[in-house]
Amino acid sequence: MSRRLECPLCGNTEEFSLAIHLRTDHSVEPGAFRRQFPELPIHGDAFAGFVESRGVRRVGEVLHFNVDVAGATMSARYGVDHPLIPDSDPSFVWTDACRDVAEAIEHDERVFVYGPSGTGKSSLVRQIAALTGRPVRRVSLNGETSVSDFIGHWTVNEQRQTVFVRGILPQAMIEGHILQLDEIDAMQPEIGFTLQQVLEPGGRLLLTDTGEEIAPHGDFRLVATANTLGFGSDSGLYASGTHVLNFSWLDRWDVVVHVDYLPQNEEVGLLRARHSSLQKNLLISLVRAAGDLRRAHAEEQLTTTITTRRLLALCARLARGNEFPRALQTTILNKVPPEDRKVIAETFDHHVGPTGK
Ligand SMILES: Nc1ncnc2c1ncn2[C@@H]1O[C@H](COP(=O)(O)OP(=O)(O)OP(=O)(O)O)[C@@H](O)[C@H]1O
Ligand SMILES: [Mg+2]
Repeated sequence: MSRRLECPLCGNTEEFSLAIHLRTDHSVEPGAFRRQFPELPIHGDAFAGFVESRGVRRVGEVLHFNVDVAGATMSARYGVDHPLIPDSDPSFVWTDACRDVAEAIEHDERVFVYGPSGTGKSSLVRQIAALTGRPVRRVSLNGETSVSDFIGHWTVNEQRQTVFVRGILPQAMIEGHILQLDEIDAMQPEIGFTLQQVLEPGGRLLLTDTGEEIAPHGDFRLVATANTLGFGSDSGLYASGTHVLNFSWLDRWDVVVHVDYLPQNEEVGLLRARHSSLQKNLLISLVRAAGDLRRAHAEEQLTTTITTRRLLALCARLARGNEFPRALQTTILNKVPPEDRKVIAETFDHHVGPTGK
């Protein structure tokens, strides 16, 4: 049993450590407290155990400790508050591919994550950031981000001076964020050309407009996500807007990770975690139907596929009490090409039954 620690200034008790209470409620730093009360402990026994087992250490102003992320040991920041640190999702399902991405982020490897739509590629980067307390900047390169937003542009400020505003890439490099580049296989060539400099180990960015050279912060990380590996799209599903990436450009990514659909049990577990009111048998049937349709897509019998995102949307409608046929229509059938609708409807009908009961 660990003893609670009593604050001699106000009588409050804390289990783990008095340090945060002293700082926030009394504006007293631990050093000043130790000088005033040399005989009183600031940290409890549990804290000492935590410090040892989690390798707690100070890096600059911030305490770091070790966390296990999908089997990779990562360094997490303690108590850091930043608007770009994502919220953690306890229902997120960790796989071996997640481990590979976690290791890359920990060891500053440029990582390219690719795989079918809706398999959790974007979520995975955000979940790793949530567990380790790292801010993430996410941009979609499918044309919605302009080159000037990405690199920077000239503008006139309130004092009517012409000034250069740094874009998302130099900002993330300076502030030490994870830069998550979604849909990188659809990026404009000028963005690819600029990224090439930064992909080199310790690569600096030269802003040609100003001549400024940006050195990456030690915490800066680069993660790309895409549906294709940049050889163009085999399936045709991602052909629109995706480009063939240049070999030497692709070669500069240290690690390439393929993320696929979750194994059946894990996918059922995810649907259950998000929609606990639905019957397990129904969820198993939905995942089986999705599995058949994904195989049909891989064998080129279907032009579209059933993503985890689509299953989640279907479950959300069912959990709100919608009838199965109507929920299937709005979340899946209406999104697919007419020639696929019949096969998809029949496959769900086969596994789930017409009413989904
Ligand atoms: N392993 C997983 N654990 C929890 N949720 C998941 C997982 N995989 C997918 N999802 C859920 O599926 C949805 C789609 O995920 P996400 O947007 O990350 O996919 P994506 O692979 O980036 O898709 P796209 O290629 O279309 O960008 C999200 O709601 C996400 O939470
Ligand atoms: Mg994505």
